Amino acid sequence: MKGALPETIAFDIYGTLVDTHGLIAMLRCHAGDNAPQFSQLWRQKQLEYSFRRGLMRQYRDFGVCTAEALQYACLSFGVSLTEDETFVLLDAYRALPIFEDVTEGLGNARDAGFHLYAFSNGKAADIRQLLDHAEISQYFIDIISVDEVQSFKPDPLVYHHFLEKAAAKAENAWMVSANPFDVIGAVSAGMKSAWVQRSQEVIMDPWEIGPTVVIQCLSGLAEAITSRREA
Ligand code: LAC
Repeated sequence: MKGALPETIAFDIYGTLVDTHGLIAMLRCHAGDNAPQFSQLWRQKQLEYSFRRGLMRQYRDFGVCTAEALQYACLSFGVSLTEDETFVLLDAYRALPIFEDVTEGLGNARDAGFHLYAFSNGKAADIRQLLDHAEISQYFIDIISVDEVQSFKPDPLVYHHFLEKAAAKAENAWMVSANPFDVIGAVSAGMKSAWVQRSQEVIMDPWEIGPTVVIQCLSGLAEAITSRREA
């Protein structure tokens, strides 16, 4: 990155660095063969609750969205959890596993001279715990959370907050996310975005706004951004 301003990268966390379906083995004890569908509904409702709370200006932190979505999934699948079982699952959510391409992808991006930040709907303390557990905290300059402005992605406010806190210019900042709504939200707020499409089954929303680049795994991120700026 000689002779150019270093570019800033905001890494989404849930679904991009950590696997939100990493608790399926634990969920089998409660939901049996429905564990994968239970996990999907849990995640889907967690995001829906964040969107709705953002729109309604009824902010409660992302941990609350996660806990209420778990309750919803239990009601939907007829699963009854004790307080202790709920506690254990929500605690495990702060130690979700990372995807296998993450460590290499972060290392490549840092070595290429990019400034790396974690940028999430999650509270900073929860994100710190996830990154520490996965032993990847050292790659990040800082953790920036939407909690600081009490709204959620894809409210433009949260992307502007990111840019302000990271002291970055929108045209020089990349949102890296596997979540299409996050990619579209960041581009709509003026940033560039790399969409991590790990599986062909995940589809980008067919909007007039889309990702700047598409990558299949994080290992190729630094090269994709570098090629794009040189093109
Ligand atoms: C996050 C959500 C979008 O980590 O997954 O911000």
